[in-house]
Amino acid sequence: MKRTVQTALLGALLMIPAQHAMGAGQELWRECRVCHMVAAPDGTVLERGGRSAPNLYGIAGRPAASDPGFRRYSDLMQSAGRAGLVWTRENFIAYLRDTNEFMRRYTGDPDGRGHMNASLAEGAGELFDYLEGLSR
Ligand code: HEC
Repeated sequence: MKRTVQTALLGALLMIPAQHAMGAGQELWRECRVCHMVAAPDGTVLERGGRSAPNLYGIAGRPAASDPGFRRYSDLMQSAGRAGLVWTRENFIAYLRDTNEFMRRYTGDPDGRGHMNASLAEGAGELFDYLEGLSR
């Protein structure tokens, strides 16, 4: 109910083109929710989803491997986090294009394997913007 009211308010406030951009990002969330959810620190669920992957709340600008509630990060993701990887829009897009290739390049570990078996060739930027907006 609260969500419906918020969505309606947002819709009323945003100009039509902005609404379209946000719609595309939100639609792409379908590709992620089998594994990921978006839940605020107070427990409010902003996007329903699975628990087999890190909570993507506040992912925009967040350091890699930093969800305290997720205990199954790969060694590769953990070393990327230690090396200073932060989820900027650019890194997010590159990671989603080819997760292992991106992380191997970032860490310099040619044999490393991450735990995310998914990718997104297009629209990752819009999805990032959507997730950033959700966590504000
Ligand atoms: C099949 C399950 C699955 C799907 C689908 C999936 N992911 Fe993931 N994702 C994971 C797992 C598992 C990890 C942890 C990877 C690791 O530790 O190497 C992860 C990690 C991530 C991270 C890094 C999180 C952090 O805390 O550093 C981001 C960003 C991410 N996924 C985004 C996405 C997006 C966006 C989508 C949808 C387009 C998506 N994922 C779809 C399983 C999935």
